[in-house]
Amino acid sequence: MSGHGEAQPMKSRKSGPLKGVAAVPGDKSISHRSLIFGAMAVGETKITGLLEGQDVLDTAKAMRAFGATVTRHGEGSWTVNGVGVGGFQEPADVLDVGNSGTGARLIMGTMATTPITATFTGDASLRKRPMGRVTDPLSLFGARAYGRQGGRLPMTIVGAANPVPVRYALPVASAQVKSAVLLAGLNAPGETVVIEKEPTRDHSERMLVGFGAQLSVEKTGEGHVITLRGQPELRPQTVAVPRDPSSAAFPVCAALIVEGSDILVPGVSQNLTRNGLYLTLVEMGAEIEFQNPREEGGEPVADLRVRFSGNMKGIEVPPERAPSMIDEYPILSVVAAFSTGKTVMRGVKELRVKESDRIDAMARGLEACGVRVEEDADTLIVHGMGPGGVPGGATAKTHIDHRIAMSFLVCGLAAKAPVAVDDGSPIQTSFPIFEDLMRGLGAEVERG
Ligand code: S3P
Repeated sequence: MSGHGEAQPMKSRKSGPLKGVAAVPGDKSISHRSLIFGAMAVGETKITGLLEGQDVLDTAKAMRAFGATVTRHGEGSWTVNGVGVGGFQEPADVLDVGNSGTGARLIMGTMATTPITATFTGDASLRKRPMGRVTDPLSLFGARAYGRQGGRLPMTIVGAANPVPVRYALPVASAQVKSAVLLAGLNAPGETVVIEKEPTRDHSERMLVGFGAQLSVEKTGEGHVITLRGQPELRPQTVAVPRDPSSAAFPVCAALIVEGSDILVPGVSQNLTRNGLYLTLVEMGAEIEFQNPREEGGEPVADLRVRFSGNMKGIEVPPERAPSMIDEYPILSVVAAFSTGKTVMRGVKELRVKESDRIDAMARGLEACGVRVEEDADTLIVHGMGPGGVPGGATAKTHIDHRIAMSFLVCGLAAKAPVAVDDGSPIQTSFPIFEDLMRGLGAEVERG
């Protein structure tokens, strides 16, 4: 989906209480990984609950280009017949991974230790994002990367013919970089070691073990030391993708700020590497009950009963929590605007290199809605206006960023005047049923 299609303006307005069940789609991170690991296993991997957002569909297409057979059988139900570790064939054409940084970076890692060449491109948002963070460690395996200035797409990766294993300490807290190195390590001989100071989402580690790789994680003074033995034969798996906690954040936060709301959001991950937003909301005074804790698809989950919370207070979000809620700062800053006092988000400079510069996009949009915001390179501070206190009545620019679009549409549900977004079409990348799901709860969201 290169170039990004036509813009779809959208708008939301003050809504009555939100009620009902918000069953959000499958987890984006786990969906990408199911397809990629399935493509590297020998035999048939069965997937249920796969997120059918554009990002994941683009990864499915890429796996086909490398020789895997990827088949859709029904809603969320897919199979992947993999080609085995080291079995990727050379794609016949340029790979367009659309809007997806995860797709681009994980797939680069996957092919970097196979002697083939692949060229990657994406939409205008992805073509601005830094790829040096993955091509630097991939070059240590022996791969070569030729991209645009600043390590941007389009970019050609020439996979290493004789890869060597790597020991790599992550210079940035990034699950994408960690995963790219581990995926490259799969087809290198010996042991590849990744060291992360701050834990990031651990789906790759959990799933690689499930697929039969030898992987261990040791907690040391240096941080997590992850050791992977290369050249395993991966066994196909049956993967039940749990629901996406990053998508669940939107109905959850909407219910917290829309007066009278009371909703149930089933199966929200409580994985400690993903649940930072939920800890933060509870600290702010959100009324969330975590019901029926259990395991689903190998992840700890709970059903969230969420009620309108008129007494939320701004807090200082601990910076070390950032990796476990990195995608949730945009929607947290909306909740902060409807809380009392200021919410201080420090250590968030990674937000500047997401699908958009999310500090800038949120700051400008919230200001346009009448909210006082402060920012510096690594910080976002939102001065809360209390429940129902945000004036709204503005159009936010979404910069081809799904989470910015959804955040401002949630903002409009509780603001005094409607909030519009210039382009809601990127929502398709991660949460294609967002509009219907929110309307089903009673949210007034419209197109145009
Ligand atoms: C992801 C990791 C995160 C996150 C992205 C998905 C993943 O990026 O922002 O949406 O699936 O590994 P970083 O690891 O680069 O922070």
